[in-house]
Amino acid sequence: MYYPDELIEEIRQKNDIVDVISGYVGLQKKGSNYVCCCPFHSEKTPSFSVNRNRQIYKCFGCGEGGNVVTFVMKYENCTFPEAIKILADKAGVTLPEVEYSEEAKKRETRRQRLLEINKEAAKFYYVQLRSPHGTRAKEYLDKRELTDETRKNFGLGYAPVRGEELLAYLRSKGYTDDLIKDVGLAKIDEKRGTTTQFWNRVMFPIQDLNHRVIGFGGRIMGDADSGPKYLNSPETEIFDKSRNLYGMNYARSARTGNIILCEGYMDVIQMHQAGFTQAVASLGTAFTPGQAALIKKYTKDVLLAYDSDGAGVKAALRAIRILKDAGMSGRIINMQPYKDPDEFIKNMGKEAFQDRIDHAENAFMFEIRMLEREFDLNDPEGKTNFYNQIARKLCEFGEDVERENYITAVAEKYHIGFENLRKLVVNTAAKTGGYAVPIERPKSGIQSKNTPEENSKKAQRLLLTWITDYPQLYGKIKQYISPEDFTFPIYKQVAERMFADIEAGQLNPASMINMFTEEKDQSEATSLFTTKLPELENDMEREKAFHDILISVKRNSFEYYSSRMGVDITALNKVVAGKKALEELSKTHISLK
Ligand code: CTP
Ligand code: MN
Repeated sequence: MYYPDELIEEIRQKNDIVDVISGYVGLQKKGSNYVCCCPFHSEKTPSFSVNRNRQIYKCFGCGEGGNVVTFVMKYENCTFPEAIKILADKAGVTLPEVEYSEEAKKRETRRQRLLEINKEAAKFYYVQLRSPHGTRAKEYLDKRELTDETRKNFGLGYAPVRGEELLAYLRSKGYTDDLIKDVGLAKIDEKRGTTTQFWNRVMFPIQDLNHRVIGFGGRIMGDADSGPKYLNSPETEIFDKSRNLYGMNYARSARTGNIILCEGYMDVIQMHQAGFTQAVASLGTAFTPGQAALIKKYTKDVLLAYDSDGAGVKAALRAIRILKDAGMSGRIINMQPYKDPDEFIKNMGKEAFQDRIDHAENAFMFEIRMLEREFDLNDPEGKTNFYNQIARKLCEFGEDVERENYITAVAEKYHIGFENLRKLVVNTAAKTGGYAVPIERPKSGIQSKNTPEENSKKAQRLLLTWITDYPQLYGKIKQYISPEDFTFPIYKQVAERMFADIEAGQLNPASMINMFTEEKDQSEATSLFTTKLPELENDMEREKAFHDILISVKRNSFEYYSSRMGVDITALNKVVAGKKALEELSKTHISLK
């Protein structure tokens, strides 16, 4: 959905950031700001700060920041248009109706129809469970120890033995057999006519992020019942199994900073009932990259609660790979001696499960431990092969520090001499063309020296924050500096807009943030107005600091364009101009007043 900039700006202005955020978390006034503990990361002392004048928030702990729209996007886990909608409602602003093409309109109405059928079917199953027909299903759910609240929360139901009843119900609501078939609730064949997909099963409606029913899972209640244990809706126009996760509609707002991924509907439900509302499951198929991408919108920290049997381990190993490819980390929850989270929680309780979460095993160490099972370590040859495999896997780490840390951890755990293992990794890397291992071992574990890129980013951020704080500076430096001097795309866009706004006498950081619709970009843009300036004693020191930053940005830009000079002629011009400006600048005093 596209809304005009003026409308977005109107909605933003009508929603005071302090008022809106106060509606979500308790803010306290502190100086000219309002503060609280950051809702986006866990902390004990408040580093989350909201500024009413600027209409911006910023957490100095986790770096998260933005305007009122960013906050709503982040807190509600929603998209930019969704946040605009929420804020428009709050402020009583009416949004224009969406204009669709005929084609899109048709498609949309069809989707709506299919979703409505599912909703009706879910209602029907829900009522059946609570009717005399549903006695056996009710008893089954009792046996599985699900509370009424849980059953309601997940909309559990029962598909009666006679499928005819559902069909009659849906037909009475005006849906054709063809539509019922297209949504996966029925099959049509010549001999038997229309028959339902589900009968005599406990029903689990599968919801998308917006709580719309997109499909169903159905479970038989006893071993003697016919058919597979679980039966699911087939894939349909509205049911893409590879891009949805069971329970995600609740897990997205769990605010635990992690997601627990498991295999079964029952596992999800049992975990939610025990308070682990961050649990989700794939939909009767293996975990997919599309599902990893879905989770990644909320967190990168995924805990795997797969079955402890052979098939579960295999599935976990696959899921680890998929997570890794998506740039996410996985940790494995040990379910022993039970089979799955459902059984674990029922037998051991939620405290014990929380303890297992806290002690979840790092994915790499889990992979190595599973690898170990394939070798006979009492046999020298088996041992050698195992070590070679470990070395191979260690070669996959592209980051020196990370790899070294894992070499340390593996060496310790498997009682292999650190230097020996390291040598093996170097040799393996040389043979297989993996990443080279540095000659020197880093002295103190993780080292986070800033890269030149980080340094120039920091300087550019500082400069923009200075100008935000002292807009009058712009007039004094504009002969030396231009948006091109900001060599990162978002920075350049912000600089362009900031300089234009100052020229027009209307600098407004909060409004600039809406140039971006991605939360990540908004947060990054916010950092350009909120970088912590050094606390300096007097104007002389401040002027010196500002001067240094200005020169640093200019020098960086000069180097940036010099290194690209071969590419085009305009770059050459910029370099010449930049060099001149740099020389002049170093001799010029710029007063902050
Ligand atoms: N599944 C399926 N079809 C089957 C068996 C399983 O689609 N015939 C899917 C279902 O999504 C199920 C998940 O795989 O939730 C896990 O299956 P399984 O481990 O066999 O069952 P549990 O989750 O332990 O289910 P329950 O506790 O109800 O026995
Ligand atoms: Mn189970």
